[in-house]
Amino acid sequence: MWCWANDLAKHLPPFAYFPFGGGSRVCIGKAFAMMEAVLVLATLMQQFHLELLPDQEIVPWAAFTLRPKQEIKVRLQRRFA
Ligand code: HEM
Repeated sequence: MWCWANDLAKHLPPFAYFPFGGGSRVCIGKAFAMMEAVLVLATLMQQFHLELLPDQEIVPWAAFTLRPKQEIKVRLQRRFA
């Protein structure tokens, strides 16, 4: 399975992965969306622990956006009571 660790995105060839488009019509909300995503994820991870449930095959599906082909089942546990 591939993952985004170790700055993978910086080592990809140009346009191998471009969720915000590129060139002169590149998404003008790119920086905002990336900042917002980090804040939302950090907030969620502060409050919940996510455990991936076993026996699942996670297949990337490159449609209009890159997404998992099937649902991903996780167990959500609140970190603080
Ligand atoms: C995860 C969030 C987002 C994704 C994946 C995304 C993706 C895209 C993509 C693929 C394009 C087309 C680029 C092209 O034609 O080459 C686009 C264009 C655009 N996006 Fe986003 N976008 C996101 C968030 C936002 C936000 C937050 C804003 C505004 C605050 C925004 C405003 C725009 C605008 C105005 C365009 C048209 C740019 C143009 O045609 O010159 N996007 N976006």
